[in-house]
Amino acid sequence: MCGIVGYIGKQNTSKILIDGLRELEYRGYDSAGIAILEDDKLDVFKAVGKIANLEAKIETSAYDTESSNFSIGIGHTRWATHGKPTELNAHPHLGEYSYVVHNGIIENYKELKDELINSGHKFVSQTDTEVIVHLFEYYFNKTNDAKKSFLDTIARLEGAYSILLITKSQPNRIFFMKHGSPLAIAHGNNKDEILFASSDAPLIGLASDVVYLEDGVSGYAIDGNIVFNQEVKWTTLPTSKQFAQKDGFRFFMEKEIYEQHDVVTDSMLGRIKDDEINFEELNESLCSGINEIKICACGTSYHAGLTASYLFERISKVRCSVEIASEFRYKEPLLKDDTLFIVISQSGETADTLEALKMAKKAGLKSIAVCNVDNSSMTRVADATVLTRAGIEKGVASTKAFSTQTVVLWMMALYFAKVNETIAKQELHEQLKVLREVPKSLIVEDKLHEKCRRLSKRYLHGHGFFFIGRDVFYPLALEGALKLKEISYLHAEGYPAGEMKHGPIALADPELFTIALMPQHCHYDKIKSNVEELSARDSTICAISPLEFELSDDFIKTKPTDHYMLEFFEMLVVLQLLSMEISVRLGNDVDMPRNLAKSVTVE
Ligand code: M6R
Repeated sequence: MCGIVGYIGKQNTSKILIDGLRELEYRGYDSAGIAILEDDKLDVFKAVGKIANLEAKIETSAYDTESSNFSIGIGHTRWATHGKPTELNAHPHLGEYSYVVHNGIIENYKELKDELINSGHKFVSQTDTEVIVHLFEYYFNKTNDAKKSFLDTIARLEGAYSILLITKSQPNRIFFMKHGSPLAIAHGNNKDEILFASSDAPLIGLASDVVYLEDGVSGYAIDGNIVFNQEVKWTTLPTSKQFAQKDGFRFFMEKEIYEQHDVVTDSMLGRIKDDEINFEELNESLCSGINEIKICACGTSYHAGLTASYLFERISKVRCSVEIASEFRYKEPLLKDDTLFIVISQSGETADTLEALKMAKKAGLKSIAVCNVDNSSMTRVADATVLTRAGIEKGVASTKAFSTQTVVLWMMALYFAKVNETIAKQELHEQLKVLREVPKSLIVEDKLHEKCRRLSKRYLHGHGFFFIGRDVFYPLALEGALKLKEISYLHAEGYPAGEMKHGPIALADPELFTIALMPQHCHYDKIKSNVEELSARDSTICAISPLEFELSDDFIKTKPTDHYMLEFFEMLVVLQLLSMEISVRLGNDVDMPRNLAKSVTVE
């Protein structure tokens, strides 16, 4: 996790670093810091919390924020892994001879730290990162050679990381290394300018060409030149930046819930034509001769994958399994080359999913990334990419990423069925008709929003929530529970409704809130019985259904439709609104909830 930026040049270094960090704030907002070297003078600023706190600190200092002398700088926005979010643990970490920012985890930091302590080094932070400056010092004391010391230092590090390091002895260069965590480098638009960032977003507008570093690439930048340890590939950067605005909504999350109608429409553009389904990005050979589909993802994307597994088996008639990426990586999975590997990710950077994808590729599997961010790491590794076209998602709690992923995967299930001739023309026609109706199910009606707002005040306490559903409404229940946990900090679990009687029903009492997903067109009678069982044991029931349910304590009526997938999206909106309104009432930060980051680039 974390975001790092670096700059060499004559523009306003502190502004460039801060602007860059703001673009990367989605990667963590526990603390932030910058270090700028100008004429051998080092200025360091650190602040706990969001970038705004760092900015305020710089503004109230005597630092000349307008300076346009030649300088070099590095910056960092942190999602804490080792050590609490304090100023002491904030980056850049400062050593005797070097200053460093780091994204990732140094897995062998404990051994290194012990070794360095034994040889007299004094540590001031609890971070894994601090070993880097001490290792550098250790080697520099021996050789007095910055480049060699940097190479000796990185040779000792294990884990996944990207690093920017500046030194006292050569205050005109930035050393860099990429291993596992993302790092991009660009020549700036001004003479001799060089920029670094964890993603290309901070570079857009300031540079035209970029290198997305591959693992194992290291080097240094100096005097407008970049020296790499191996050949790299330059690519053109997009010229204009997309900015997300709240557009009058209270939160990005709220805006993104309301946007779902439009982005889901976009996700279908050109892919559904008349009675045909087509993906220009997929060539038929990727999907034919496949005996199994394995989906791998994390968090909300995993829930979209789980939903899709029902659809792939039901529609495409292909065996489909779904794995949580962090589990998959270490279970020594049996991978066969007639399995198609699909990763799902909003960001395309989630470390566990990315590594799982690399593992599958190495085992010879064909792969597809279903992803929202073009040019992200996963899109560069997978054989093919299907973009979900959700636009920038700023809210840490995913909303429109999930709806677009689900729709795209559903369309892919139809495409596979078409290619493998497992779907009759009439059935394809019917499915496409339903798909076209999905955007309408995602329209947020005032009445519904108001109902969720009113109901939210009844759900601010209790000893827990169970979101229950069957079939695709089970992954939807998981998603509803995740949304609530993330932004309300209340305990919630998603459960298959039929499984409650095998244990969790023991928790039932009036302070156990059951959010029951009761679609009319998907095992209604079965789920009804499950909810009745909970009601009989005094659980407080909030039923979400188009059909009245007399045993419910609270009832949210969804629009009647004639297909369970339309009910799915109707209910998705309810769950998103409900969790958001509960979070608002609890006074939480809806868009940037505590302890989280938008993009999780550590395993
Ligand atoms: O970018 P990704 O889709 O790979 O991210 C996966 C999860 O980190 C993400 O879905 C997370 O669970 C969200 N905060 C959920 O709202």
